[in-house]
Amino acid sequence: MSLISFMNVQVLGDERGRLNVLEACKNIPFDIRRVYYLTATQMGVSRGFHAHKALEQVAVCVSGGCRMLMNDGSQVEEVVLDSPDKALFIGKMMWHEMHDFTEDCVLLVLASDFYDEQDYIRNYDEFLRLANPL
Ligand code: TYD
Repeated sequence: MSLISFMNVQVLGDERGRLNVLEACKNIPFDIRRVYYLTATQMGVSRGFHAHKALEQVAVCVSGGCRMLMNDGSQVEEVVLDSPDKALFIGKMMWHEMHDFTEDCVLLVLASDFYDEQDYIRNYDEFLRLANPL
């Protein structure tokens, strides 16, 4: 099964431009409790390198692009997010890394819960242990 799952962004458009819609519990599979966005990411910088125990997220580059690596502890897949209609689901227990940010990248993330450092798994060996219990 692929690790890459895109949400069905509703794209409305007319001669004035485009309007992209994501709604909680409709085309986002959870109730949105937090929104954050990464901007001004410096060239050559990679981010992420963690998984979450319970948090679910959807990530979309509303401007520019980046490469997202997804790893569930047994498979690794990569996808380029380079369009406001490519909204990627990042489920719980998914190690993810963001690379190759363009200068104009604005990476918007919708999250199912408030910020909680206790929900992070930042150590890769610990992630592999938890993802692949004996
Ligand atoms: P982190 O999630 O580690 O960023 P990235 O995966 O993009 O490298 O967050 C960076 C720092 O910001 C870390 O100290 C936690 C803090 N933070 C908050 O306080 N609130 C938030 O909603 C987020 C996402 C991060």
